[in-house]
Amino acid sequence: MTTDARTTPLDDAITSPFLRACRGLEPSHTPVWFMRQAGRSLPEYLAIREGVPMLESCFRTDMVVEITMQPVRRHGVDAAIFFSDIVVPLKAIGVDLDIVPGTGPVVAEPIRSAEQVGALRDLEPDDVTSITDAVRGLVQELDGTPLIGFAGAPFTLASYLVEGGPSRDHRRTKELMYGSPDLWHALLGRIAAIAGQFLRLQVEAGASAIQLFDSWAGALSPADYDTYVRPHSTAVLESVADLDVPRIHFGVGTGELLSRMGDAGADVVGVDWRVPLADAIGRVGPRAVQGNLDPTLLFAPTEVVHARAAEVIEAGRAARGHVFNLGHGVLPATDPDALTRLVDFVHSYEPEA
Ligand code: CP3
Repeated sequence: MTTDARTTPLDDAITSPFLRACRGLEPSHTPVWFMRQAGRSLPEYLAIREGVPMLESCFRTDMVVEITMQPVRRHGVDAAIFFSDIVVPLKAIGVDLDIVPGTGPVVAEPIRSAEQVGALRDLEPDDVTSITDAVRGLVQELDGTPLIGFAGAPFTLASYLVEGGPSRDHRRTKELMYGSPDLWHALLGRIAAIAGQFLRLQVEAGASAIQLFDSWAGALSPADYDTYVRPHSTAVLESVADLDVPRIHFGVGTGELLSRMGDAGADVVGVDWRVPLADAIGRVGPRAVQGNLDPTLLFAPTEVVHARAAEVIEAGRAARGHVFNLGHGVLPATDPDALTRLVDFVHSYEPEA
């Protein structure tokens, strides 16, 4: 790892391998956590969620704490990610939406007019007290394991709001973007304020890193990303800059956008599995990277998984810092034991002499 040899006493005080890698400091081992580590791959998750709708579980302090802890206890990952969903802050300000099993977020009245954009009010601390209480409880229970807070980025949230649900081609979203740029920027500005406030509240309650998910940004060309999206993602990341926590920025299919996503203000750029990690490191320059094992590899024989994981770890050594992760979320059908074995492999990995 190309870390700076000069460390300050403040740097030395940071012991978490995850936080050290995010900051470009040498960690004691390669840190690992998984996007969607909490969720349907775990039988204990399916058990606790029985009969409780997804969004309700996100607003129940006890459930958020328990579900967030489940993968930490089971796999021994180096970071927890707080159990929630990207649409939770929108629900909290009164947007009529639901998370439909097998589909994802569905918005009752898709947002396409200036009146509807104007009705998106700021997020207030009182809107999410059950969530900030959960963050505080988690920080106690995690006993030193860092908690990652997160939010959805303006483009990805706008896509759900404008389409009314998941979309393959983001047609209506782009129709608004190209056809009504003023309304588009007003919408993304509102979402950026809400997402930024949501992240701020999580960090103030004790989260020690944040991840901004722009899952669907890969649908954009670099030029359109720069014109229509990047300023708003920058605003979100900027809104927590003073809190001095590592900021991770991730999207799927974003090979052509990686340097831009870094420039939006990320300390760590998340990389999906389509881009070789070495290439990604070249694109993001002096920032840390996170990723990037194909989530479907977990269905392969253990030797194959571990051989590919070793390649990712080796490639990661060229980065300013490397946090091992999958290239996207854990698939629900994944055998949780394969994840535990992968964590053990990453932690004990020694390069061959
Ligand atoms: O462990 C973790 O990673 C934390 C939990 C988390 C969830 N959603 C829980 C969830 C996180 C970080 C998210 C973020 C999220 N939600 C994103 C960005 C990350 C990504 O995957 O790209 C996106 C795009 C969403 C929107 C969303 N919510 C989708 C596409 C789905 C899946 C729909 C389905 O049923 O297949 C959801 C629902 C959701 N969010 C579930 C979980 C555990 C499944 C709901 C259930 O268990 O019933």
